[in-house]
Amino acid sequence: MSTRLQLDKLNKSFGDVTVIPSVDLEVKAGEFIAFVGPSGCGKSTLLRLIAGLETATNGQISIDGNDVTEVAPADRGIAMVFQSYALYPHMTVEENMEFGLKMNGVSVEDRNAAVQRAADILQLGTYLKRKPKELSGGQRQRVAIGRAIVRNPKIFLFDEPLSNLDAELRVEMRLQLSRLHKQLGDATMIYVTHDQVEAMTMADRIALLRAGKVEQFGTPMQLYHHPKNQFVAGFIGSPRMNFFSATLQHADSQESILKLADGSEIKAPIDTSGATTGDSLTVGLRPEDISPEENQNSLGLKVDVSENLGGRSYLYGAAHGMDNFVVETKGSIEKVGGESMTLYFASQDLHLFNAEGQAFKRLQAPA
Ligand SMILES: Nc1ncnc2c1ncn2[C@@H]1O[C@H](COP(=O)(O)OP(=O)(O)OP(=O)(O)O)[C@@H](O)[C@H]1O
Ligand SMILES: [Mg+2]
Repeated sequence: MSTRLQLDKLNKSFGDVTVIPSVDLEVKAGEFIAFVGPSGCGKSTLLRLIAGLETATNGQISIDGNDVTEVAPADRGIAMVFQSYALYPHMTVEENMEFGLKMNGVSVEDRNAAVQRAADILQLGTYLKRKPKELSGGQRQRVAIGRAIVRNPKIFLFDEPLSNLDAELRVEMRLQLSRLHKQLGDATMIYVTHDQVEAMTMADRIALLRAGKVEQFGTPMQLYHHPKNQFVAGFIGSPRMNFFSATLQHADSQESILKLADGSEIKAPIDTSGATTGDSLTVGLRPEDISPEENQNSLGLKVDVSENLGGRSYLYGAAHGMDNFVVETKGSIEKVGGESMTLYFASQDLHLFNAEGQAFKRLQAPA
């Protein structure tokens, strides 16, 4: 796959405030990329830099091998879809979609063909003569996406396009966007969201940002199974990964031994070569990797609240000296509160981080 977009040492400052210190990123043609991260981490700024709506302070942006850092937004071959649909209220769906083409002097026949194609893809055929106020939120967002499709851009940029929709519609639109990406074949999409579930389900690769820095760029499963650091581990996965402290009892390239706060020892297939016996470390264990079914290691949970969703349940309480421990189990669980339960986990599901929050290599986790 050829490189569609390349960011080299991209930097953006507003006056004295550096929002993007330095980002390097390479996106292949046809990829669906998600930019995800907490509010204010610079997702929109990065997207606006790619679109040309913000000027880079330093560094370079290339599209298909051409330096576009100084190129006007309209000439970059990109189309952006915003959270606020920004449709023209007095124009019909059809007029809204063809407006950009009309401004560029595209012929009536070509405009009609482009609108028809987009309407087919987005199933908007029956709404073409309606005004935006006669549409639902989801339909309006589809028109905004249609306006991008008709321009046949090299890169689609989406900035939280679904956040104005209710939960059910978000899930539906999420699937539609995934289908759209497949249907358009070579189209490259960059999708900004702070919803890690959207990022996990839609993206080929995720760039997880914190304070304008890319903490990790990889497939959803790389971020899930091999988070580079504690920040990534805590951000990806829901409910959040549990963290508790341990002391390294035996550093090893194959099987490390950890001593927990209660004095118990666990063995983990994690490479701690390079660390020193006696180091204070942080263990990570996902709520979904703990279960009432007997396994290699046990864990005593003092439950204070339980939530039963029928198909799955959540237990909240204290374990390993942490009082915000979460466990997710399959099926429903009897309402509990105040009592202690013994739960289990497999050694291969453990994560381990050093004092700086950097992850040690997990040897038995899926690649
Ligand atoms: N024009 C500007 N002048 C000064 N600071 C700005 C400007 N635009 C954005 N910022 C700052 O840059 C940082 C990143 O903003 P940005 O909008 O990119 O965040 P975001 O990740 O999209 O957040 P959210 O999830 O809330 O949309 C914020 O701290 C914001 O205050
Ligand atoms: Mg934003």
